[in-house]
Amino acid sequence: MKRKITILPGDGIGKEVTTEGKRVLAKIAELFDHTFEFEEALIGHDAIEATGNPLPDETLIALKSTNAILFGAVGHPKYDNDPTLKVRPEQGLLKMRKELGLYANLRPIKLFDELLHASSIKPEILKGADILFFRELTGDVYFGEKGRKDEGNTAYDLMIYHRYEIERIAHKAFKAALTRSKKVTSVDKANVLESSRLWREVVQQVAKEYPDVTIEHQFVDSAAMKLIQNPRSFDVVLTGNLFGDILTDEASQIAGSMGMLASASIGDTVGLYEPIHGSAHDITGKGIANPLASILSTALLLDISFNLKEESQTIIDAVSAVLKNGYRTVDIADASTKKENILNTQAMGDCVIKELSMVNVPINE
Ligand code: IPM
Ligand code: MG
Repeated sequence: MKRKITILPGDGIGKEVTTEGKRVLAKIAELFDHTFEFEEALIGHDAIEATGNPLPDETLIALKSTNAILFGAVGHPKYDNDPTLKVRPEQGLLKMRKELGLYANLRPIKLFDELLHASSIKPEILKGADILFFRELTGDVYFGEKGRKDEGNTAYDLMIYHRYEIERIAHKAFKAALTRSKKVTSVDKANVLESSRLWREVVQQVAKEYPDVTIEHQFVDSAAMKLIQNPRSFDVVLTGNLFGDILTDEASQIAGSMGMLASASIGDTVGLYEPIHGSAHDITGKGIANPLASILSTALLLDISFNLKEESQTIIDAVSAVLKNGYRTVDIADASTKKENILNTQAMGDCVIKELSMVNVPINE
């Protein structure tokens, strides 16, 4: 198979982790005899520095003609500490999601058994948890009208949803549920918000088309609590942009660490794959970032965008084997991890690549 993959390293540890993701993709191409052509483009703070624009036109043009996107992260402390700055790295990510129509963000939360003790949640509560979030990604308070009035002393962000936006992501969630345990939990705040009442109404209507799937509605505050209290009670979770942003960071603790979670953003055209973690400037340049979320993002990329199921599973198996062999980055290490098994970013990438080579030895012989 011949495909073009665009890498958007972005800011902070985004560069460090996508470097490892790219190496894994190159290794898969070699092992399975595919041709992956890589190109890189600018986004975020780096793009602002180089062009004044967090999503330069050249980047957008490249993305519109590529087969899949591997994205790192955007963000920089300079902007976090100065809310008055008008041009911000995150605008690049949001504009990209909107321009490419990436309305469905899939965030699978699954704990590798080896990491049962890496989370701050008790192992007996976590064991067996397996949740697939569908976070709506191009609507809600993120994209509603925003502004200031009263000479800047009043600010607003409009929380807005259109029926078609809810319908299309609901269908994706219900279809996924049919291939899993046939249960969807829709999360909203319909006791307070009108946009949530439309959300619930539309989800109830879509649910009628999937009689084999059980639908349950939860308010976001209660869902946040139950997620930690009993994560196994969830399977497919369907929610809006803001609630999904918050709940998936919370749910990352179910997978042991933010450094383990991959995500896929899909819509009508190209797919974008990225870790759910951010640019993490506190550890940037130290070489200690966990590349496994980026590496697992490449597994999602191969599966969803290229339908390469075996290649995708090979990556997941390699990650699992590396963990089984006791190797950890510092964020997923615990008291039982041997000091010499705590690896830096590149060494963790090396380990996964070594496993990948071994997986295929019997086939080559
Ligand atoms: C995410 C991030 C982004 C979001 C930020 C960087 C704009 O937190 O992908 O979850 O809020 O969507
Ligand atoms: Mg987030």
